[in-house]
Amino acid sequence: MAKRYTVTTALPYANGPLHLGHVAGVYIPADIYVRYLRAKGEDVVFIGGTDEHGVPISIKAKKEGVTPKQVVDRYHKSIKESLKGLGISLDVFGQTSSSIHYDMASDWFKKLSSDGVFTESVAQQYFDEENNQFLADRYIIGTCPNCAHEEAYGDQCENCGTSLSPTDLVNPRSTLSGNKPILKETKHWFLPLDQFEGWLIDWIESKKSLLKPNVYGQVKSWLDAGLHPRAITRDLDWGVPVPVEGGEGKVLYVWFDAPIGYVSFTKQLLENDPNRNWEDYWKKPGNSKLVHFLGKDNIVFHSVIFPSMLKSMGDYILPQNIPANEFLNLEGDKFSTSKNWAVWLDDYLNDFPDKTDVLRYVLCSILPEQKDADFTWSDFQAKNNNELVANLGNFVNRALVLTNKYWQGEVPEKESLTEQDEAVIDQMNQYPQKISSSIEKHRYKEALGELMKLSSLGNKYLAETEPWKLIKEDENRVKTILNIAVQITAKLSILCEPFLPETSAKLKAMLNLKTLNWESLEEENIPSGHKINTPSLLFERLDDSVVEDQRLKLQKAKAEAEINEKDVEPQKGTTSFDDFQKMDIRVGTIIEAEKIKKAKKLLKLTVDTGIDQRTVVSGIAKFYKPEEIIGQQVSILVNLAPRTMLGIESEGMILMAENNQGELQFISPSSKVNNGAIIA
Ligand code: 2FM
Ligand code: ZN
Repeated sequence: MAKRYTVTTALPYANGPLHLGHVAGVYIPADIYVRYLRAKGEDVVFIGGTDEHGVPISIKAKKEGVTPKQVVDRYHKSIKESLKGLGISLDVFGQTSSSIHYDMASDWFKKLSSDGVFTESVAQQYFDEENNQFLADRYIIGTCPNCAHEEAYGDQCENCGTSLSPTDLVNPRSTLSGNKPILKETKHWFLPLDQFEGWLIDWIESKKSLLKPNVYGQVKSWLDAGLHPRAITRDLDWGVPVPVEGGEGKVLYVWFDAPIGYVSFTKQLLENDPNRNWEDYWKKPGNSKLVHFLGKDNIVFHSVIFPSMLKSMGDYILPQNIPANEFLNLEGDKFSTSKNWAVWLDDYLNDFPDKTDVLRYVLCSILPEQKDADFTWSDFQAKNNNELVANLGNFVNRALVLTNKYWQGEVPEKESLTEQDEAVIDQMNQYPQKISSSIEKHRYKEALGELMKLSSLGNKYLAETEPWKLIKEDENRVKTILNIAVQITAKLSILCEPFLPETSAKLKAMLNLKTLNWESLEEENIPSGHKINTPSLLFERLDDSVVEDQRLKLQKAKAEAEINEKDVEPQKGTTSFDDFQKMDIRVGTIIEAEKIKKAKKLLKLTVDTGIDQRTVVSGIAKFYKPEEIIGQQVSILVNLAPRTMLGIESEGMILMAENNQGELQFISPSSKVNNGAIIA
């Protein structure tokens, strides 16, 4: 029976764009795996989509005054486009708000309910009488019993991090009406995970050698702690309605319906396909392997909850593997949407439209496979310049340029082989196996490392044999060397496809080869006499200024996010007190800084004063580089009459203290305060 693969990518919530953290954790490894399987001729469906339910989406819609459906459709579209831009080769990108998904999720619930899988129980829950609705945890705020923070949510206090239940809150209030909610009885359905514990333990143990240690470790600690029934319905109006008696006004819990999305999207993909049937990819005995790609925060859902649902459905397969990743950080800090500390995928694609493979390369080279990893722009630049340009690009270019130069693009014949040639051919032939083996173990970083070693092998071979010198004395030797170099290039063009699909396509075009696939790796790929095309450069160096701009952009976005959060009093008017008290001095933040031509001492600053963003010319250029002071809090005299210096109008003055060495230092609060805070 033919083997099939069902490969899924965790469904991101459709309430924001994707950042590089999402991409590195899920999409890059999944796409490499799927492209590899396809190159080997395997039958794969590659499933993705957006998770469109859940309370944060309803809250966002309310804030924006639109429907949840409008919110999710907007983000679904932009997420889908950005993934396509990165070359993520999903076969389908579905929506959990689609009717095919509603039908599938309802059917699952009905079947599991009528099979008696669920338990039901009635509990007291907060209810907003004015709005006539039960309140999700996030719709209740109150005082944290732990730290007395007055705006703690019903599920968590964001001030002290404590997990809470709504009834833990002192003085609870509904965020919908502001009123005190009442406790009212409501019925919910539960998945009795405690009943599944036994077989889950056996199943996970049977997979121990396949699972990544980080995944096994997390699942094991969940199982060791003991499982409890988990509520799978909610009193909400956005979601898949509970399709059984007593379910009026209730919807399925988002984590119950979302993974069913993998199944409904497979059905969406194949429902009109005359040759393939979606059920073969999900049900026994379809001989399919199910592989879920996800981030570490989703492990329990894919290793405990969804497998329990699949098993309860009776005829479904269980995941073969769950190669979850840890998290990616950015320049040393966690990605944060609220702090705007992120590199957004769509921004990257706009800023670097012809460099999707560079991003794929860099992310793959730092994948958080076993522990959290860090993306930095300087590393991005270094990897581009020292690895893609100096190693892969350089080798391919030398091999193809020399072949064009000496033999007009006609691949020369191998003459007699030296020991060195034989050793190089032998090593070259080992790489396909090495790369396959790493990919099959879900070690993508290692696989990419092997690919680059093959390129290094080629570079070293050319550097040692120096065909450009030999050409005058021993043409036959050069023929052999270049033939081998071209064979290495051909192998690279196939082997790099899962990682760097655009580069692979360019390389194949330069080699004038269309049909190279993983199967052909066993053979010599290019016959002598084959005519190749004129090569062009695969990669280009990145200047310091390019990455500097990106770093400034990050800092600026973060500073703006901080500023947007603040409430600021209006600017003081001039007063009739004494001179000192006429001055309106505030705390501000420098959000832009640049040198001024022809003025060595001056910098042109844009300062967010809390009141506005204004230009200030400041004599601090001797002491600070522009890029160092973005985000710096300062004291600024805001009601100084504007002055024009070197044609620039300066609206205010930054107050500075001079140290013993005569250097100027900013006067800033001992810990951050709101921009616009009055200094008096
Ligand atoms: O954590 C998340 O972003 C979830 N939306 C992932 C869902 S994965 C799947 F089960 F749908
Ligand atoms: Zn607290």
